[in-house]
Amino acid sequence: MTIPCRFTVNGSVVRGSFAPMRRLLDVLRAECHFIATKEGCGEGECGSCAVLLDGTLVNSCLVPIADVHDREVTTLEGLPADDPLFAAFADAGGTQCGICTPGMIMAARALLNDRPCPDLFEIRQALAGNLCRCTGYTGIYAAVRAASTQGK
Ligand code: FES
Ligand code: FES
Repeated sequence: MTIPCRFTVNGSVVRGSFAPMRRLLDVLRAECHFIATKEGCGEGECGSCAVLLDGTLVNSCLVPIADVHDREVTTLEGLPADDPLFAAFADAGGTQCGICTPGMIMAARALLNDRPCPDLFEIRQALAGNLCRCTGYTGIYAAVRAASTQGK
């Protein structure tokens, strides 16, 4: 069984018929070709698939496409090229293999949208659902701090 579904990804309208429980993660990658969003665990544990849904951070591996109808999705590709997080992650060594990076940046963007000048505790809390096996987190936290108004 499929259902009609219409939603917006990075400003473009997507229409299609999908199995209602198909994961947003799979639709983004296979149908919309926004492949920055990564699958790590597939179980809501790692945050590598994080995107914004109506501005709220979600793990797209846990979101059935039926829940996305009439809503707005933003992936890493939908952030402006001059988002300060990009340069900050590069400058601070906040990325190595890069699998966690898209989700990490989306989580950081959600934080900075709510809290433009977070302290370290708030940064750690906001990124607690995003796992990184490479960097040791120090560079990631430094990058988010540099991209915040604190870093200006
Ligand atoms: S792949 Fe979605 S949380 Fe890990
Ligand atoms: S940079 Fe490799 S998992 Fe984070």
